[in-house]
Amino acid sequence: MIRYYFKITVLFLLLNSLAVAKQDLNGEGVFKTYCWGCHHQTSVAFGPSFESIANKRTMGEIQGHIIAPKSTYKQLGHKRSVMPSFKEKLNQNELDAITSFILQYKSK
Ligand code: HEC
Repeated sequence: MIRYYFKITVLFLLLNSLAVAKQDLNGEGVFKTYCWGCHHQTSVAFGPSFESIANKRTMGEIQGHIIAPKSTYKQLGHKRSVMPSFKEKLNQNELDAITSFILQYKSK
């Protein structure tokens, strides 16, 4: 009986860690946690919409700005740099996930 409970617990922990790993790859999760306050998908908020970003930027430009906005904003044509860097907050998987999430709004 104890072994049975042990197996259930192990199985539960395993499923749980899989769910967490999957969440890390979820661009929508990253968006809602870190970006939503300033960016919306298709309308302008405090920052530009993901749609307008997807239509004019490459994957590299997008990732560069998320990691080091202070060094890319001029090149992207912005007069001010207000966006915080997410270098310390996002791992590479999350960065890739949010970039794909942004690029899916490309319309032309
Ligand atoms: C505090 C508000 C704020 C938050 C939070 C924020 N941004 Fe920004 N973002 C801006 C503003 C304002 C700009 C315009 C340029 C600047 O200030 O750096 C911008 C610009 C950008 C650009 C470049 C736009 C262009 O011209 O192509 C990208 C890409 C971007 N943000 C992605 C994100 C992502 C992804 C997140 C979440 C991980 C995020 N931002 C979170 C405010 C924010």
